[in-house]
Amino acid sequence: MDRPLDIFSFDPLTITRRDLLIVGATSAGALAASVEAEAAAPPRPAAGTVPTEKVTLHVNGQERTLTLDTRTTLLDTLREHLHLSGTKKGCDHGQCGACTVIVDGRRINSCLTLAVMHDGAQVTTIEGLSQPGRLHPMQAAFVKHDGYQCGYCTPGQICSSVAVLDEIKAGVPSHVSADLTAQPLLSAAELRERMSGNICRCGAYSNIVEAITEVAGARS
Ligand code: FES
Ligand code: FES
Repeated sequence: MDRPLDIFSFDPLTITRRDLLIVGATSAGALAASVEAEAAAPPRPAAGTVPTEKVTLHVNGQERTLTLDTRTTLLDTLREHLHLSGTKKGCDHGQCGACTVIVDGRRINSCLTLAVMHDGAQVTTIEGLSQPGRLHPMQAAFVKHDGYQCGYCTPGQICSSVAVLDEIKAGVPSHVSADLTAQPLLSAAELRERMSGNICRCGAYSNIVEAITEVAGARS
């Protein structure tokens, strides 16, 4: 019976010609497989070149076509390429919610997603919620209830709040309310849970809940 082949434990004094042939054949097979995999992989950009892609986004009702480095986040696209600096960069790691925008009706952390993943999408930022001379009801409620102090988290908080009310209307459950037909649904605990991805270092949470509650009441 053949002894097991272990190329790392060959004793140079006892190695046979047959052993060497087996090792050679094994290495050649591995090399051939790696060459095959390399050939099947998509072509790599030449060293020093940046992979780019054309992307069309519908931002706040306007069609915007850009050629972007494919690694560009949606957040950087909005802030650096479209100069919509209302959307804030807090942590850039999906932990604070300052970068929240609404994409095709759902709130997302724009720092955690690449712009090329949203070709053709409808994007709403804080700039797109208001009309000239007229605040969105959620913006007006934040002002009325002092839902901010420094204001850095506020664009994300407001975009998130608008999307939260749409989620409740659409019957999206939360960890707080398993039964969406139960009343009252909009308890402070419910809103705090749904807004838990948006951090406010100034601690304006109770005022934010008051603002959302007022808008939700006005809608129902
Ligand atoms: Fe995106 Fe903090 S900047 S979650
Ligand atoms: Fe300052 Fe929220 S208002 S971080």
